Amino acid sequence: MGNVTFSSPLMPKDLTVYAVAGDTHTLLKVAKQHKIPLPFECEDGECGSCVIEVQELSDKPFMAQSLTEKERATLLAAGKLTKAQIEDAVVNDRPPPFRLACQFIVRHEDILVKFSGEPGVV
Ligand code: FES
Repeated sequence: MGNVTFSSPLMPKDLTVYAVAGDTHTLLKVAKQHKIPLPFECEDGECGSCVIEVQELSDKPFMAQSLTEKERATLLAAGKLTKAQIEDAVVNDRPPPFRLACQFIVRHEDILVKFSGEPGVV
């Protein structure tokens, strides 16, 4: 239901995979299933090592952004998102530029996911 394209200097080329929306799989699980070398440690939204840059590729209206409390706190503490960006995501459904793969639930949307391969660095 959604195409997820992974892009990283660690990968020989970008890889697009089909992710079933609504099955509550996190983006990290999707990456693992397809052997994408996305860094992770805690898998619980706390360490920040799975930070990713996310770009919406479809031009559908914004959907509600489901950032967990842990994800907000971790991205704020890491300086990846500002309070204003978090507010904009919560109030206006505007997708924030950075997310945590272990907290991001894949939905009915096409996205580009970029990561450096270095834990906590996009
Ligand atoms: S793996 Fe630790 S925040 Fe995602």
